Amino acid sequence: MSRPAAAVFGLLVLTLLPSLSACNAPGAAPPGLAAAVDERRLVAADAEPGQWMSHGRSYAEQRYSPLDDIDTGNVRELGLAWSFDLQTERGIEATSLVVDGVMYTTSAWSIVHALDAKTGAPLWRYDPQVPRAKAKHTCCDVVNRGVAVWRGQVFLGALDGRLIALDAKTGALNWEVATVDPALPYTITGAPRVVKDKVLIGNGGAEFGVRGFISAYNVDDGTLAWRFYTVPGDPALGFENDAMKRAAQTWNGNWWELGGGGGTVWDSMAYDPQLDLLYFGVGNGTPWNREIRSPGGGDNLFLSSIVAVRPDSGEYVWHYQTTPGESWDYTATQHIILADLDIDGRQRQVLMQAPKNGFFYVLDRATGELLSAENYIDINWATHVDMASGRPVEVPGARYRETPYLTYPSYLGGHNWHSMSYSRDTGLVYIPVLDFPANYGQPEQFRYNPGVANTGADGIAGSLPDAQAERDAMRALIKGRLLAWDPVQQREAWRVEHSGPWNGGVLSTAGKLLFQGTADGRFVAYRTDDGSALWSFPTQTGVVAAPITYSVDGEQYVSINVGWGGAFALVFGEFVQSDSLPNVSRVLTFKLGATGELPPVEWQPSVVFNPPPQQADATTLRRGYALYQDVCMGCHGLNAVSGLLIPDLRGSAYLWDEQGWQEVVRGGKLAARGMAAFGDNLGTDEAEAIRQYVIQQAHRGREVRRAASE
Ligand code: HEC
Repeated sequence: MSRPAAAVFGLLVLTLLPSLSACNAPGAAPPGLAAAVDERRLVAADAEPGQWMSHGRSYAEQRYSPLDDIDTGNVRELGLAWSFDLQTERGIEATSLVVDGVMYTTSAWSIVHALDAKTGAPLWRYDPQVPRAKAKHTCCDVVNRGVAVWRGQVFLGALDGRLIALDAKTGALNWEVATVDPALPYTITGAPRVVKDKVLIGNGGAEFGVRGFISAYNVDDGTLAWRFYTVPGDPALGFENDAMKRAAQTWNGNWWELGGGGGTVWDSMAYDPQLDLLYFGVGNGTPWNREIRSPGGGDNLFLSSIVAVRPDSGEYVWHYQTTPGESWDYTATQHIILADLDIDGRQRQVLMQAPKNGFFYVLDRATGELLSAENYIDINWATHVDMASGRPVEVPGARYRETPYLTYPSYLGGHNWHSMSYSRDTGLVYIPVLDFPANYGQPEQFRYNPGVANTGADGIAGSLPDAQAERDAMRALIKGRLLAWDPVQQREAWRVEHSGPWNGGVLSTAGKLLFQGTADGRFVAYRTDDGSALWSFPTQTGVVAAPITYSVDGEQYVSINVGWGGAFALVFGEFVQSDSLPNVSRVLTFKLGATGELPPVEWQPSVVFNPPPQQADATTLRRGYALYQDVCMGCHGLNAVSGLLIPDLRGSAYLWDEQGWQEVVRGGKLAARGMAAFGDNLGTDEAEAIRQYVIQQAHRGREVRRAASE
């Protein structure tokens, strides 16, 4: 819809529905009912440009705001109106919601904050008290990407798998349900959505070994309405529906015994009220390597697929699989955007996604028909998508059966969960792109190890080499950019090269502005048409979350949650360009003419190296290296170099304390602080081999620092 049309439509709706206009003014909502969002309001989200009522702003998840008071002409006057300290040092990924002047946002450990959207004054806080040992089952930090609101309630998916309904006015608990078997390594980091009085929530955990699904719960009492599994279970137990029966024909071997097949629905959803279709993205397999997961091949439905179901029943309607028989952690859980595009002279109702595998897909969202697919980054696992079959044409060797394969993109994808945006003015989709490879190899042996990562891809440990010279060479390969993509022509419009990957999600506005936070600590406004930077604010910390915009009392605000974290931040600490930037977790909110400043940050990023003498033999060190990369790397960083959200083990006093090391690593002495016990997964000698490996890395780190300072 063009802007003038949107304005007219807005007026119409406001005249026809007086109760809506009443909701527009803060405080005018029905007494006692905060977050008074319902289906009528959300379907007509563009009639209320000042609100941000659901994760992607509207059901189409375009992350485009019709607000235009802040524009290319005055954006230089944007300043800090208020900031709110989120009181955590772990990753911040949430998109805030704003309804009738109240902001609902989340921080690490699934903690919810309700704030006055005009002043940042706290209204209430809800901490679901997630057991800290649950961190063991997180692939990618203890993050949360936000809440949903509906008719006076706030819905939260907690890290430990609970779905929680809160009173939006007070933050008091209304109900909570366990959406997963708490004994299994499921987690929730994604934001729920609400469609037709049902809360929709998926889960994560496919690295560790789970069977993916999405569930719908009744908003009023949390009773389960339906559940759709994304991969088949043990055929001997029977199939839940025809879709599962069909899917099972695309699997081989005993996948259900290796953790459950994977296919978790951990992030994206969208809804088309006219077609009455709910869309969601499905994740990777458990283990990643298909040779192990499904020996003999097979597409392994519905891994790496976009699936459309009926929101009332969860009944399967169509699917499109982006990466048949995926073997690289190429999830299709990335942001889904619905739009109407003019393609070959025809108006098409499309669904767009740039999943991890590097292709940008445009599908007909009524039928799932593939309309076009082109790679948005340089990739080397497939040459192109064959339009007749709708399948990627793979490059021989990419499945790393015989020899390891350095694959573009990596398991973090060409694009990860960081939200895109579709501007209705330019017709462009803006993608926060990651551009670097990972090495994949066939493991010598594979043993399913319940409760820890089971990738089945050995090269991962050697993804980034151990020798400093090679690491320096690798550093040059690790890139990231903001990419403007024309979805009709399927080609790049413009790009802004960033200093590295893992930059924040994006927001476009009718003010012709595109907002993005960066890994190197800036919040930037670009022109949507050519990418020139017009304004920037130093955030003091890396940004990975996505901005929003809203208005209160007729004044437009732009808000972003800042704070470094997530998978790349934890694992690739060594490769972050700006290692001086710590995690400082805050909500930063801007408006024209404001002049607020952030307090200065004290931070000592450097590790103090004081390791005991190196005594272990080469075999022990090699073993410690492999075990470390399998079990510890996800939190403490590749090659024992930390991203500094979590202690750098090379500087740990426990390196001197063999007994204490065992108590922490196997015994869970620090479990209450997020360092779970690994006694079930590692023997005493294995934990000791890891200690020896870390001692070696501490000596190496000290040498590198000495060499650098000479
Ligand atoms: C899920 C994330 C996670 C994983 C996986 C993990 N750790 Fe930790 N670890 C932590 C956190 C968080 C802390 C900091 C706890 C605190 O604040 O005291 C920590 C602290 C430690 C410490 C204490 C450091 C110090 O000097 O205070 C040691 C030793 C340690 N971890 C070893 C390991 C080893 C060895 C592995 C692999 C077997 C491992 N960790 C895997 C999260 C993790």
